[in-house]
Amino acid sequence: MEKFYATTAIDYVNGAPHIGHAYEKILTDVIVRHFSQRTDNAYMLTGTDEHGIKIQKTSAKINMNPKEFCDTNAQKFIDCWKLLDINYSQFIRTTDDYHKLTVQNIFKKLTEKGDIYKNSYTGLYCSGCEAFLAEKDLDEDGCCPVHKKKPEQISEENYFFKLTKYKDAILKHIKQNPDFIVPAFRANEVINQLENIEDISVSRAITSVNWGIKVLDDPSQVIYVWIDALSNYITALGYDINNPSEKFKTYWPADVQVIGKDILKFHSIYWLAILMALELPLPKHILAHGWITIDEAKMSKSLGNVVSPENVLKAYNLESPDAFRYYMATAAPVGRDGNYSDEDFKEKVNAHLANSMGNLLNRTLSMLVKYFDGEIKSEFIKESPLFSEAINTIKEVKHHFDYFEIQEASLKINELVDKANKFVTDNAPWTLAKEGKMEECGTVLYTILEIMCVISSLIYPYCPNIAKSMAKQLKYDINTKLDDIKINNIKTGKLTSKEEITPVFLRIDSELADKKK
Ligand code: MSP
Repeated sequence: MEKFYATTAIDYVNGAPHIGHAYEKILTDVIVRHFSQRTDNAYMLTGTDEHGIKIQKTSAKINMNPKEFCDTNAQKFIDCWKLLDINYSQFIRTTDDYHKLTVQNIFKKLTEKGDIYKNSYTGLYCSGCEAFLAEKDLDEDGCCPVHKKKPEQISEENYFFKLTKYKDAILKHIKQNPDFIVPAFRANEVINQLENIEDISVSRAITSVNWGIKVLDDPSQVIYVWIDALSNYITALGYDINNPSEKFKTYWPADVQVIGKDILKFHSIYWLAILMALELPLPKHILAHGWITIDEAKMSKSLGNVVSPENVLKAYNLESPDAFRYYMATAAPVGRDGNYSDEDFKEKVNAHLANSMGNLLNRTLSMLVKYFDGEIKSEFIKESPLFSEAINTIKEVKHHFDYFEIQEASLKINELVDKANKFVTDNAPWTLAKEGKMEECGTVLYTILEIMCVISSLIYPYCPNIAKSMAKQLKYDINTKLDDIKINNIKTGKLTSKEEITPVFLRIDSELADKKK
């Protein structure tokens, strides 16, 4: 694998990040961290989507200049991703000058090509979706089914993009590449939407929306959000109509574009058409994840149940985001909805990270200190059937990640942890020590420590801090590429001492957490 390029949706900045936004960034970060264990050249793009009527209105309401408003809110996303250890390579803001310039050039090129034309238009505009809706898209009350608001009737001269010209090519692409849309069950939904597509409005009159990128040769119009927003995936890389940058040539096409199921249409239809019109290669996969609900209810300001990632970390007094990352990344099978609940969070991370995984390392190292003063002796080093299980788990985890099955991959890691725990219980090294069978006892401990090296690598994408702490205690190089992992990481000699052993994850104390909240 030469390179891996993954993108997330860029978030609207009309509010602060919530755990739905965080879910997507964590999924993408986990994917990219995994692929960074398979290539030296993994790149992750995220950012913020800052133009449009919603920002214009919200900033006006509080008498704030829209750019300042965006600056303040974009920073909240940047801060939140830092808190969650989202290791993005680049953060793009659609108000960045380089982005605006390239979007204008893209628009110009498509106009010159005849794919963009001017027409007068009357339609129903939902500012929540920043999109025109057809009558048939509305619910029984005439409202947008997502935002539950009546769309505005708008009549104006706009530029239109000839989406219909690309309909057949898009259909062919989706049908010929069944793994293009992940999960595959969503492809039919897109195929049905394609049936009824029309050309789309790609600009708004400046008299109705002024917070946007102006059309180069027609300053009476601003480029409507989706052409602006979608182009970020290539403008970030330095795409230029005439002279694409080295970075663009290296990374495009994206290996995976991670988005929520609500914006799949824009990515699998509009975005493909724009790329086809620009004669650019298409992304390899679009991964449409499901929604995160709170205690099984939709998250919404009106219900007052919007959860911020920052508050979760604070409530549980968590110094690192690993537990939250783990919980979110494994919340649902690929593409399905997932749920956040406090109870489940505590139970799951305590069981998996503290009791099964962390405790296994801690107990094993402690026994090594107790029985052997922390030393691995050459006679301990023996083959074990567990080793081929561990190598096999690496293969299985890679296979799941090839299909972006992040939860499924984590289950394989858990299985390996369970097998290692069972191995300890079955072989009872404490009994072996009591019976004076010191070599056998040492071999059991050595075996587990080798397995823990593999586990630290596998858990790294989900829990980078825990993985690093495990690797440090094992004197194992956490940067080992997955294909280079061999079962020979634990060397003879002194491995550890009482002072060096630290728990990798402390159980969440429910009483303390409840008090803090
Ligand atoms: N700005 C557009 C995306 C443009 S991409 C070129 C947008 N922004 S958003 O802020 O509304 O949403 C950003 C991402 O967060 C989307 O992929 C959306 O699906 C995701 N989520 C927002 N709320 C969510 C949940 N409750 N659960 C999971 N993800 C959800 O759409």
